[in-house]
Amino acid sequence: MSSPPVVARTIPALRRALAELRRRNASVALVPTMGALHDGHLSLVRLAKRRADKVVVSVFVNPTQFAPHEDFGSYPRTFKADAAKLAAENVDLIWNPDVKAMYPEGFSSRIITEGPAVAGLEDRFRPHFFGGVATVVGKLFNQCRPDVAVFGSKDFQQLRVVTRMAVDLDMGVKVVGAPTMRERDGLAMSSRNVYLSDEERVLAPTLYRAMKEVARRIKAGKSIDASLAAGAELITGAGFVLDYLEARHAESLAPIKSRKDGPIRLLVAAKLGKTRLIDNIAV
Ligand code: PAF
Repeated sequence: MSSPPVVARTIPALRRALAELRRRNASVALVPTMGALHDGHLSLVRLAKRRADKVVVSVFVNPTQFAPHEDFGSYPRTFKADAAKLAAENVDLIWNPDVKAMYPEGFSSRIITEGPAVAGLEDRFRPHFFGGVATVVGKLFNQCRPDVAVFGSKDFQQLRVVTRMAVDLDMGVKVVGAPTMRERDGLAMSSRNVYLSDEERVLAPTLYRAMKEVARRIKAGKSIDASLAAGAELITGAGFVLDYLEARHAESLAPIKSRKDGPIRLLVAAKLGKTRLIDNIAV
């Protein structure tokens, strides 16, 4: 049986643990998470294990990517269960700093993101979000110096933003996107799904079904605008408040009007009761 993962909570402890991991030139993959781990996260860990000799998972609920009215305070924190899941996956190191270790007194620097970060999707509804994500991911990359970092595709705009950032800032990290894991009824796995009531949980897969219907119509030759309008009707008809349902270029995230300008990615965000869900699929 392999030994349980080392848990580092301070920068010096992290440095020591990483130096140990990197002995004999082992390559390192990082999986950044905010904890509350589900099977989607574990699929990222498995992909990371295929891409590098050693796997580090960070567990840190990052305050700078939450607006004051958002769920930072109530975001699920389940470290004990997370650590047990990561031990079962034979993860080598868990990086679990507290807010003071990540943002010490006097912290005053920030990464500013453009391009995919200002595509008019999540950024329109969560203007603080990508600044917070880019800054903490930049810090995680500097702290862990991974060869590879694995992110889920459910946060598709985030994946594009960190991919761009790693290239633009010569961070020396290969960012790898992993496919979205879904429940049997199609709902994308998310730590926020625990907020859904039983009734909402039944309705939640409508987002995925609606996107599949939009994709079907576009592939059948219907116009993108008409297909999106039909999808939006399905979503609002199920009781969601829709933030956006859009067809974008899968790489640049630029708006797209015709299939020939593709590859197309459909992206959606909508609130069901108090829970905001996001999802996306390729056409
Ligand atoms: O996707 C997430 O869980 C977070 O945004 C991330 C990448 C761990 C940064 O806090």
